[in-house]
Amino acid sequence: MANYHISSDVLPTLADFSLPDELGFGEVKIPIMYRADYADGAWQPAELTPYGNIEIDPAAKVLHYAQEVFEGLKAYKVGDGRANFFRPLENLKRMNLSSARMCMIEIPEDIYMDGIGLMTAYSEAFIPNGSGKSLYLRPFLIGTRSNLGMGVSDTFTFMVIASPSDIYHAGHMKIQIEREACRAARGGTGAAKTGGNYAASLQSAQNVQRRGYDQSLWLDPIEMKYIEELSGMNFFILQNGELHTPMLNGSFLAGITRDSIISLARHKGITVVERDIAIQEVLTGIQSGAVSEIFACGTAAIVSPVSVIADADGTTYEVEKVDQLAATLRQSLLAIQERRETDPFSWSIEVDNKYNPA
Ligand SMILES: Cc1ncc(COP(=O)(O)O)c(C=O)c1O
Repeated sequence: MANYHISSDVLPTLADFSLPDELGFGEVKIPIMYRADYADGAWQPAELTPYGNIEIDPAAKVLHYAQEVFEGLKAYKVGDGRANFFRPLENLKRMNLSSARMCMIEIPEDIYMDGIGLMTAYSEAFIPNGSGKSLYLRPFLIGTRSNLGMGVSDTFTFMVIASPSDIYHAGHMKIQIEREACRAARGGTGAAKTGGNYAASLQSAQNVQRRGYDQSLWLDPIEMKYIEELSGMNFFILQNGELHTPMLNGSFLAGITRDSIISLARHKGITVVERDIAIQEVLTGIQSGAVSEIFACGTAAIVSPVSVIADADGTTYEVEKVDQLAATLRQSLLAIQERRETDPFSWSIEVDNKYNPA
């Protein structure tokens, strides 16, 4: 027996909805949402309801101590087939690692799959079907216990909301090295997908954008020497024909696109090396030609080329090749995600028919 209830308002709400001509990324919201609460030591029956404000006690832990974790994944529907997810259980695995780091509850697989499955099946008519377009799903979990003492919540709300979106066009990115601020500390929460990490990156983002750059490039918080990631993407360089990316170290996010790019590149016969990459080595490599291409990757944009790296003193380094290997990898990954090419990794999973509206 399904452990969820579909509100009778859901189908009439969807019947009144239509997609605007311009989607953007994360701007348009599907007018329904999924919610499951954890209280009294157990998950309560979940609900699919019209989208709307949620009531929250002003003393809830999430509002004061940022007890929250989230994920971002996409459902695709290109062509005639059913909507499909890309590696959704990897997002659940990461969400539960984030949740454990934030002393929150583990989300059971059935509750998570019901959430993303129902949201996608009910939204199927609104999944834009052009290549690169998708339904972006945002599952999140918040601590709701209402007492002001510093401590761990024992009540939680898990929700899934969704946004029909275009591919996130980061374009040819110009990025700036962040030499002062840190996004994460040794032993901190950098590897968890929790709001506080993003809050910590906002000031730097504002500063670099004022200087005309797109994103900050974060260095390791101990020596400020090794590259970690961008604020919402992982980082790759093409060095002497090999693809190099920073080795996971617990202080930045283990991207699912990063992992997919590593497998895909190896499948194409490209050598991939995960290692500590010093920023100075990259700057010198751009000048000598040893580093010929740079790109970043993440769910929203998939793969985005980097054309310029700027240092804090204003020196700029122009990358020799822009969007060459990056374009090949983006196209190959997108073709798998959109089921236009065979998927040797079995990454793509169809949405279960059991979630279809009755
Ligand atoms: C900080 C950060 N790094 C990297 C990524 C890329 O991760 P993924 O490929 O799983 O989207 C994201 C996006 O989720 C992110 O927020």
